Amino acid sequence: MSLQAQIDGSNLWFAQSQLHSHNHSLQPKSLVVTDMDGKLTLASNELLNGLNQLFQTSIKQKSRVSKGSVWLSLTNNSEVIQFIDPQELKALGEDGFIIKYIDEKKSVLITGNNQKAVLYGVFHYLRLLQTVAIDKDSLNITEIPKYKVRILNHWDNLDGSVERGYAGRSIWKWDELPTKVSPRYKKYARANASIGINGTVLNNVNANPHILTTEYLKKVMVIASELRPYGIQVYLSVNFASPAVLGGLDDANPKKEEVKDWWKNKVKEIYELIPDFGGFLVKANSEGQPGPMDYGCTHADGANMLADALKPYGGIVMWRAFVYNPKGWDRAKQAYEEFLPLDEQFRDNVMIQVKNGPVDFQPREPLSPMFGAMKETQVMPELQITQEYLGFSDHLVYLGTLYQEFLQSDTYAKGKGSTVAKVTDGSIYNHPVSGIAGVANIGEDNNWCGHHFAQANWYVFGRLAWNPDADVKTIAEEWVRQTLTQKDKVVSSIVEVMMNSREATVNYMTPLGLHHLMGWDHHYGPEPWCVVEGARPDWLPTYYHKADSIGIGFDRSSTGSNAVKQYFEPLRSEFDNIATCPEEYLLWFHHVPWNHKMENGQTLWNQLCLKYQEGVDEVKKSQEVWSKMKTYIDEQQFKEVQEKIAIQLKEAIWWKDACILYFQTFSKQPFPEGVEEPVHKLEELKKLKFDLKHHN
Ligand code: GCU
Repeated sequence: MSLQAQIDGSNLWFAQSQLHSHNHSLQPKSLVVTDMDGKLTLASNELLNGLNQLFQTSIKQKSRVSKGSVWLSLTNNSEVIQFIDPQELKALGEDGFIIKYIDEKKSVLITGNNQKAVLYGVFHYLRLLQTVAIDKDSLNITEIPKYKVRILNHWDNLDGSVERGYAGRSIWKWDELPTKVSPRYKKYARANASIGINGTVLNNVNANPHILTTEYLKKVMVIASELRPYGIQVYLSVNFASPAVLGGLDDANPKKEEVKDWWKNKVKEIYELIPDFGGFLVKANSEGQPGPMDYGCTHADGANMLADALKPYGGIVMWRAFVYNPKGWDRAKQAYEEFLPLDEQFRDNVMIQVKNGPVDFQPREPLSPMFGAMKETQVMPELQITQEYLGFSDHLVYLGTLYQEFLQSDTYAKGKGSTVAKVTDGSIYNHPVSGIAGVANIGEDNNWCGHHFAQANWYVFGRLAWNPDADVKTIAEEWVRQTLTQKDKVVSSIVEVMMNSREATVNYMTPLGLHHLMGWDHHYGPEPWCVVEGARPDWLPTYYHKADSIGIGFDRSSTGSNAVKQYFEPLRSEFDNIATCPEEYLLWFHHVPWNHKMENGQTLWNQLCLKYQEGVDEVKKSQEVWSKMKTYIDEQQFKEVQEKIAIQLKEAIWWKDACILYFQTFSKQPFPEGVEEPVHKLEELKKLKFDLKHHN
């Protein structure tokens, strides 16, 4: 039975609470919790409530395991040890769990080395009951997360606004804390725990130094205590200039003893309030943020100073490689050039946090060459969950396919098969920590993420952070079954829409390797013509597409900026050669003549126009599929998604028209057959002023 609260999306993926149709016969006869000291109270409550809701009954709690029990226990219990090899238990580490059908007891055991792991096991078991057909043979599961730190990055400001946030104001109510505690904090923690996320950075990378004042740390302490029972550790973004701004020091030079001492004292204060504090996230010397280079020092000097202060408490530094300085070179090369020479210099509690692509969260980018290249330093991927460049929370774009494409990209760092996942999750380079970050899409909106389907992006991020090799189609299906409906045919149609949605967006925004064609400030609609007086050239679309009478695209080959040189072979040669460069990256790496022959025999110009059309057509298709969902989906949810798809279609056409009309002024060629006549006029589109307020 669906719940009332599902209607507005506020219940996230806990909305449906319906069993998968094959699992009705699996009703447990009793719940047994072996728990001497109350550590498993939260996990057992989740399990009991979950089972009662799913089976529409009231399951008895008993003290002895008997036929048909679900049995919850930590691994240190003497009975558990009878059934599972101690080596296997040890291998579970901190977060891993086992779900196993124990034949001798005719019962299902859920166990892990600590309470957090058992909670993960409970959520997994409930998920299985809802999403796949299970039986006693399939219940022989060992799950160990690949990444140690699975973390959300909130770009939330202390004034309640959210940078690049499209779901309302921040969920952190700084002005009410520490006295008033929003009930959302616990719900947030529970949702994250259910998908394996174990950390969160509360504030924007463009960090306000005031987060480190005692006043704010006391607020952070309250949030931390709300999240702690669910195994979520709190981290903070810090402003590198804090010792000067807050501490009154002359500067923040990381080589100065008084600066080091300031950080040591600050860290001590934090850990006195929050003993399990996770550490710092730092954006330094990028987009105007202060950093060690202000004092002639390096990123390593800055990161290590903070790492040394955190080390005694087990804290870590996530130092971002998103460096973006006003230099005349190819922006895509910058992180590698600044960071590679520093490999070997970072402390072992520092991770370098790198965005998936070399520029900035575009609908499609090749992998950043940083992955696999830094061997002595742990690198952690940063993915964006909020749709800064993918239609905000107006467009239905399932990002699972983007994440998968990236995580499975081969870096060739240690030969074939050195995927991004493997070079970052500890499979290839083994460092003491590993991690993956997702820039959150969460806000105060009732449905948390602005668009009902944007919840799936939060969900898939968590599931991939647990296992980057998991299949994103399966994850989409899991989400649909838990959130929208259990009707098999309907599930598969919706999953298909989700699976095609990202490619559609690439096609109607930036096909064939184009990037950064949006308005330079709002990052929403198309403005490939955008010129802003006094702006840096690398803010502007013209810098990226370089369209002229000969062709289009950024020459990053060996005859151009030579960004290809930063990749391992055979990628380097593959990208370098226009004949072997994958077409989805063609205009990322090459300036290509309009009449260049594409694989399917079309000219580049024709193919470009056809790709834009393909994107529009795909959105039309999803609109059609969704219109048939009316009888299966809750009315409000149905309507809200329908309205959003209508906006998406209108804007897909806007993107297509703007780009093909503008690029036609260079190609001087007609639109090929199959491409719909633009409904807009270029001059009108150029005058259109985007209203950001409307979208927040
Ligand atoms: C992008 C984004 C900024 C953000 C920056 C970052 O440039 O538009 O809002 O601050 O990335 O990741 O630091």
